[in-house]
Amino acid sequence: MTKAAGKGGRSGARSAGAKTARGKAKPPARKPWGGRFDGATDPAVERFSASIHFDKALARHDLRGSRAQARMLGEVGLIPAKDARALLRGLDQVEAEIERGEFPFDPALEDIHMNIETRLRVLAGPDAAGKLHTGRSRNDQVATDLALFLRDAGLATEHGIHQLRGVLLERAREHVDTLLPGYTHLQRAQPVRLAHQWLAHVEALGRDAGRFADARARIARCPLGAGALAGSTLPLGREQTARELGFEGPTRNSMDTVAARDGALEYLAAAAIAMVHLSRLAEELVLWSTAEFGFVELADAYSTGSSLMPQKKNPDVPELVRGKSGRAIGNLVTLLTVMKGLPLTYNRDMQEDKEPLFDSVTTLRDSLEVMAGALATLEVRRDRMAEAASDPMLLATDLAELLVRKGIPFREAHEVVGKIVGHCTRNRLDLRALTRADLQGFHAAFDAPATELLDLERSVESRSLAGGTARVRVLEALAEAEADVARALARLAPEQRP
Ligand code: ARG
Repeated sequence: MTKAAGKGGRSGARSAGAKTARGKAKPPARKPWGGRFDGATDPAVERFSASIHFDKALARHDLRGSRAQARMLGEVGLIPAKDARALLRGLDQVEAEIERGEFPFDPALEDIHMNIETRLRVLAGPDAAGKLHTGRSRNDQVATDLALFLRDAGLATEHGIHQLRGVLLERAREHVDTLLPGYTHLQRAQPVRLAHQWLAHVEALGRDAGRFADARARIARCPLGAGALAGSTLPLGREQTARELGFEGPTRNSMDTVAARDGALEYLAAAAIAMVHLSRLAEELVLWSTAEFGFVELADAYSTGSSLMPQKKNPDVPELVRGKSGRAIGNLVTLLTVMKGLPLTYNRDMQEDKEPLFDSVTTLRDSLEVMAGALATLEVRRDRMAEAASDPMLLATDLAELLVRKGIPFREAHEVVGKIVGHCTRNRLDLRALTRADLQGFHAAFDAPATELLDLERSVESRSLAGGTARVRVLEALAEAEADVARALARLAPEQRP
């Protein structure tokens, strides 16, 4: 440590080197795996590079990996069976300490891997503990931990998505016959069933769940044994650890194994897209709960008051979901940016993968949970929806299609109905008030008064193509989605997970 750096350092964080030079402080602790070093790490560097405050979230996965490693080392005879047993006992004790909140996490030991290994020295004895890392590097270790974490997180996320879909489906079932305007450009467009609109979100969320499943399928091979980057001269049982940890087999290229973070990127990408979908659903709740729309009212448990305006009931929950989608997008961009210039193989930059990943996992999990609650308790104002849906202008397209059925080219029909709509708007007339004669003034093919031609129910009902708004179609779609969600929830139930 140079004098300049020592002087420039913050008062509370003087460099370890400066301290020893002045002989004031106790000699700095040797680095825990620092055979090649004479000096200790500068405390500022220690704080800067430590990851234990966030990568302790990988503890369970790190323990799983280490158990497989210890068993394998014992079985292939790289370490004596008694050491393997001591290690397994020690790892159990570590786990118990972590569960009880008694594990002595130490930032000087950098990360979760070194924290656990160092604690093992006490619990399993330094001899056995010193053998656990045989043929292993923190590079293949952290890649293994991440793979295990991503598998668990992906399963839990998928489960959360299907639970929300289940809530949307329950609410959709109640509202097969609730009509409201569907919107394009946020302008009233055509009438739809509320069930149809909620089924739209169920579809998008279904694809989201699929993205997590797809991504998981690519986390199929086990990094353990790739070593620092080039494998090992030791006869490690890669097949064995891979199988024990639930992978198809070992990874195929040791360099790719420690250099790759696209598993995390895929999770982040899928999470960003899912959060954007939640954000759009949230935005609808925000909009619909305004006095201007008045289509829904959020339950008290999912809204808050204003500190100043006593009349206010604010949709904070959907607003926060909408806002947090920004983080999920940011997290994806963060890791893409971290990775883009890195030469193979491992670079310490890659430690920056964890905070964005963990943040997206919890942000998405929590957003799914509160959206499910908000929707389950949402009050739907059918009367307000019906009022908005009864706007006769929503049926203008039907009027044009009526002409099409009589052989009039669609472009001409569009023009004719456009003129009718313009006429009504200018003269403040209700479209339905037009008589047969009025209509025939625009086109001779009209053969009935508007009241007979335009009917809200009939309009919704007659759009009966696949994917349409007709009752049968919506009921089919509901049944299909319900079956899909039930299957997924059974498959993903926590007790079903590895
Ligand atoms: N904490 C590190 C990370 O997350 C673990 C791997 C460290 N490897 C190394 N060669 N320093 O990336």
